[in-house]
Amino acid sequence: MRKPFVAGNWKMNKTVEQASLLVADLLPGLQTIEKIDRVLCPPFPSLMVISQMIAGTAIGLGAQNMHWEDSGAYTGETAPAMVKEFCEYVIIGHSERRGYFGETDETVNKKVKAAFAVGLTPIVCVGETLEENEAGKTAAIVKREVLEGLKELASSDAQKLVIAYEPIWAIGTGKTASAEQAEEIIAKIVRGSLAESFGAEVADTIRILYGGSVKGSNAAEIFSMPNIDGGLIGGASLKADDFIKICQAAEGTLE
Ligand code: 13P
Repeated sequence: MRKPFVAGNWKMNKTVEQASLLVADLLPGLQTIEKIDRVLCPPFPSLMVISQMIAGTAIGLGAQNMHWEDSGAYTGETAPAMVKEFCEYVIIGHSERRGYFGETDETVNKKVKAAFAVGLTPIVCVGETLEENEAGKTAAIVKREVLEGLKELASSDAQKLVIAYEPIWAIGTGKTASAEQAEEIIAKIVRGSLAESFGAEVADTIRILYGGSVKGSNAAEIFSMPNIDGGLIGGASLKADDFIKICQAAEGTLE
């Protein structure tokens, strides 16, 4: 039985002051949703304050990126141990990192290994562009991202992974893959590739999320799919009511 998991990827939104207000709004509702893992991924400057605001709750905290090196002359970057001071999770290889900042399967792989080395749980993102989707390349792209991004991981680490399948054409566009489309890619390609790398037993324990225009109104249908274990939420994670509704939908799958 995989515990449902919902993470809010705030992307480059909210100053520290705005972030504190949002967390204050989220706290009462989020604390009542106890049967799932719920995680906030704000921008770096807010991590310290939010870690203090959620201390003593079961709400998790994640960063949106990090470097793979331990320390050194990497201006503008953040090391794994710095993330670990405040967080349990780190998003790795989001399509916006891959698309705008040149991240590759190789850098994703380095970052995933570096995350485990300091005890962080990576939330690894995979997904195809609209062009790749229309050219019938979805399966090949997603498979490559899973196999290459996660290569040479120990099974004991692989079990702790969280993967997010985010078709890039569904991010911030209001278009979602249908629940059935997402289930098919997640079951056959994502979980199938994980089984190829780590064996079916390990693959069955790994939580796989869907991301891309998830809202309060469509979350329950998406999360009802047997291989979709929750969501990575962008825009709707910036509004307390919407994010709480989505978390409630994930908890509702346990009834
Ligand atoms: P939206 O929910 O805004 O489509 O963003 C999805 C996403 O990229 C989460 O990482």
